Amino acid sequence: MTCPFTSAQLWSLADQYGTPLWVYDAATIRARIAQLSHFDTIRFAQKACSNIHILKLMREQGVKVDAVSRGEIARALAAGYRSDGAHSEIVFTADVMDEATLATVVEHRVPVNAGSIDMLHQLAAASPGHAVWLRINPGFGHGHSNKTNTGGEHSKHGIWHTDLLAALDAIRAGGLHLAGLHMHIGSGVDYGHLSEVCGAMVQLVQATKDAGHDLEAISAGGGLSIPYREGDPVIDTAHYHGLWDAARKQAEAIVGHALGLEIEPGRFLVAESGVLLGTVRATKNAGINHFVLVDTGFNELMRPSMYGSFHAMHIERRDGTSLAARDSVVAGPLCESGDVFTQGDGGVVLPRPLAGATVGDLLVIHDTGAYGASMSSNYNTRPLAAEVLVDGDRVQLIRRRQTVEQLLALELGL
Ligand code: LLP
Repeated sequence: MTCPFTSAQLWSLADQYGTPLWVYDAATIRARIAQLSHFDTIRFAQKACSNIHILKLMREQGVKVDAVSRGEIARALAAGYRSDGAHSEIVFTADVMDEATLATVVEHRVPVNAGSIDMLHQLAAASPGHAVWLRINPGFGHGHSNKTNTGGEHSKHGIWHTDLLAALDAIRAGGLHLAGLHMHIGSGVDYGHLSEVCGAMVQLVQATKDAGHDLEAISAGGGLSIPYREGDPVIDTAHYHGLWDAARKQAEAIVGHALGLEIEPGRFLVAESGVLLGTVRATKNAGINHFVLVDTGFNELMRPSMYGSFHAMHIERRDGTSLAARDSVVAGPLCESGDVFTQGDGGVVLPRPLAGATVGDLLVIHDTGAYGASMSSNYNTRPLAAEVLVDGDRVQLIRRRQTVEQLLALELGL
């Protein structure tokens, strides 16, 4: 909810790099990593924020990485992550794999966290002995929206729990190497489900052992929520680890040796480090509504229009003054009515009263470090915005602003 940057910092960044601009704070990311240090392995789900320089920062802190596409594997390698089979720092997680992706995981010997038995067959045919994890759908899930619930029979993700034995058979028949069991039941989870998830993992380990297979590690997946609104629960990471550690100990008693315990967060590590800066370009009234129109839209931050997600936001005025708060609809420049940050579908209440704004003021949207830049699009032929990483006094441009010419070049001169 809080913005990690001072007013002076925000103005200087906006002046130097222009808006829209993504800004990340390295210290916040390091603090979140430290909060999870009880886990043997923290594996960053880079889909949340896949900039190579953020990945480098993660690696410097000893954080490993998850990749869900060929492009994300390339990003991890470019950031210096090593991949050499069983001890790869990268794991590839998916439910489906195209030929080019298969070739990439084989070439770099990236362990595969498989969400379908077909993937196991395809991998075994191409790369006998390859290390695999099984991503299991335990039959229930949870998420901040039904679009982010990844468990239960309506989810396309993971191998259905009753198919575990069939998956283990495919591993044996295909000569693959089972590295571990993995579960990720959703993003923005309700911790009420946690003991159920841990219990399901212990049962899966038992079934795996009963089928005559050994494993080296279990993964708790990601899903840790962050407080987007005042009053939202703040996760107690020691308690979270404690529940998983107890499950790990039960699993170790079953297999008869030590097991690694992984966690795979995306949002938790980066969401609160980031803000999205926009500039107010117009204000107007329409009947009962007062509109504040900014130069950033859902092609940058998709979460409010996609999930009805809440993001705290505030206005910065260059002279430091503030205007009386007023009920405002904050909207972007896209030619689409849904391009608003403050009203959602389905009756979701989003922040409406905002310090009054005039043209030239900055709009600062908070908690945009996760699923912000990484979900941006070129809709309305808008170039992707620049990204900046602030580390104490050091400011680093970590992604140049895309140009319209670069966009058009893909279509011209074919
Ligand atoms: N592991 C797996 C296998 C996942 O599918 C995901 C997220 C994560 C880890 C990380 O989840 P996290 O810790 O970030 O909750 N675009 C949505 C979130 C989609 C999450 C997809 N998978 C949003 O903006 O809320």
